[in-house]
Amino acid sequence: MLSFDPSKDDFTKNYKFLIGGILPRPIAVVSTRNSDGSNNLAPFSFFTGVSAEPMIVAFCPLIRSSDGQKKDTVLNIEREKEFVINICSFDICEQVNLASTEFDRNEDEFIQAGLTPIPSEIISASRVKESPVHYECKLRDILSYGEHKGAGTLITGEVVKVHIDEKAHQDGRIITRKISPVGRGAGNDWFKTDQPFEMKRLMKSQIQK
Ligand SMILES: Cc1cc2nc3c(=O)[nH]c(=O)nc-3n(C[C@H](O)[C@H](O)[C@H](O)COP(=O)(O)O)c2cc1C
Repeated sequence: MLSFDPSKDDFTKNYKFLIGGILPRPIAVVSTRNSDGSNNLAPFSFFTGVSAEPMIVAFCPLIRSSDGQKKDTVLNIEREKEFVINICSFDICEQVNLASTEFDRNEDEFIQAGLTPIPSEIISASRVKESPVHYECKLRDILSYGEHKGAGTLITGEVVKVHIDEKAHQDGRIITRKISPVGRGAGNDWFKTDQPFEMKRLMKSQIQK
């Protein structure tokens, strides 16, 4: 096996082995409000749920590798203390990919990506109409692991409102096939999730020796 100590290597190599080993990763399409009131939108695949009660989600923007600066999403959340996580379905993956382009600060990334902003109910950042699930979030924590290129920031948010497309839920649960979420892999790989399979968890008493 290839083995290496990440503390002795540069961030490019570490990054490749992080995104190549942790996959498929769900994609949070994070909308925030720019300082001039326009919309910012960017995808983040270092993303997960953290707590059900309170309902907490987390995602991780890294310090930008091109200029060593914080990403606009982070600056907006530091100032506004709120954001929306929109789930990325297969139908909108090309628009979401466009939203990852480094546009100038205060450029409306909904317009650039070709997605439709709709108002949130509790917070000021807009939601993505074409996304099947939206989590309106109030900032809980920002934990930074450095100021250098590739350093990550853990951002957690408390979900204050959830929105689910009518067509995507049934009997109190979301139907995976109805939202056809996509995931991110290594390099430029993405995953389609059109072949989910079911496997029930077993009670100890059900396991035959
Ligand atoms: C599918 C996808 C997932 C991404 N995930 C991350 C991530 O987890 N962390 C990160 O820092 N950048 C990630 N990026 C890159 C950001 O989207 C990109 O840097 C974007 O320009 C940030 O925008 P902002 O400056 O408006 O915040 C991802 C890009 C794509 C296409």
